[in-house]
Amino acid sequence: MKEKLEQIRQAALERIVASDALETLNEIRVAYLGKKGELTSVLKSMKEVSVEERPKVGQMVNETRAVIEAKLEETKARLAKKAREEKLKKEVIDVTLPAKKNHVGHKHPNMIALEEVERIFVGMGYEVVEGPEVEYDYYNFEALNIPKGHPARDEQDTFYVDDRILLRSQTSPVQVRTMEKSRPPIRIIAPGRVFRSDEVDATHSPSFHQIEGLVIDRHITFADLKGTLEVFAKELFGEDTRVKFRPHHFPFTEPSAEVDVSCFKCHGKGCRFCKGSGWIEILGCGMVHPNVLRMCNINPEEYSGFAFGVGLERIALLKYEIDDMRLLYENDIRFLKQF
Ligand code: DAH
Repeated sequence: MKEKLEQIRQAALERIVASDALETLNEIRVAYLGKKGELTSVLKSMKEVSVEERPKVGQMVNETRAVIEAKLEETKARLAKKAREEKLKKEVIDVTLPAKKNHVGHKHPNMIALEEVERIFVGMGYEVVEGPEVEYDYYNFEALNIPKGHPARDEQDTFYVDDRILLRSQTSPVQVRTMEKSRPPIRIIAPGRVFRSDEVDATHSPSFHQIEGLVIDRHITFADLKGTLEVFAKELFGEDTRVKFRPHHFPFTEPSAEVDVSCFKCHGKGCRFCKGSGWIEILGCGMVHPNVLRMCNINPEEYSGFAFGVGLERIALLKYEIDDMRLLYENDIRFLKQF
């Protein structure tokens, strides 16, 4: 019995020392100390041992178990330590590696220009409002003094959804929607997307943006319009900018004008930028037509007002000296990154 125990001890210790994984240790524990393990089976055969011998043999079995258990624990600790060290070595962080760059987005030139325009008008007490891109013919044309058959309808090649509904060809319908909803005094700008059936080229696109302006109150005159747009032009293009009003025609304003600013590149002398004229056209404007006021239930005897419409892309192209509108729509990150 003593020899048998000695053999078991020897064999177990050898296997433990030779093992190199925690799982193997577990197998060894089961093989020797488990319910059906070798040492356990020795204990079971105790009945064959004489009564006098039993305590001694029991003690020996216990000693053997203790030795094997101690070796198992020791080896387990050693293997666990080794595994931890290997894991740490594998997960080591090289703090000298260059960091990954986070790419920060850029504002689109259109957005920068819009925020600049909004800042100027909000500073003069204007509210920023919006209207729908899918619009009724009534708001886009009819209520703006452009009845069916009016030649102005042909100038704006409009996308129709059906007889009554279209993609707005201008932001002017927001004038009407605003006057229907609120009473004077009104001071708003309305930026937004507009649509026209135009071929794409350096200066045209089927979808672009406008900023509409509208002021309605008692005693508003053309002088207010001139003063307002002069402040706007100077803020946007520089203090020495001059403004020129050329008579024009829009159905919803009377009188109407187109506004040019002195070229901010050559200061009016004439250059490639202003095509030699010294002036650059930037917007259309005028005094709100009495018919438009009446259609919005505002009494033209009591109230008057002015309106204007600016092309947002045109402002962005001028301000950043971009010579092709397509660049604003292609979303090439190498282009956008420059602003
Ligand atoms: N809606 C006009 C267009 O798209 C621009 C315009 C001109 C707007 C004169 C106005 C205005 O409010 O008074 O061509």
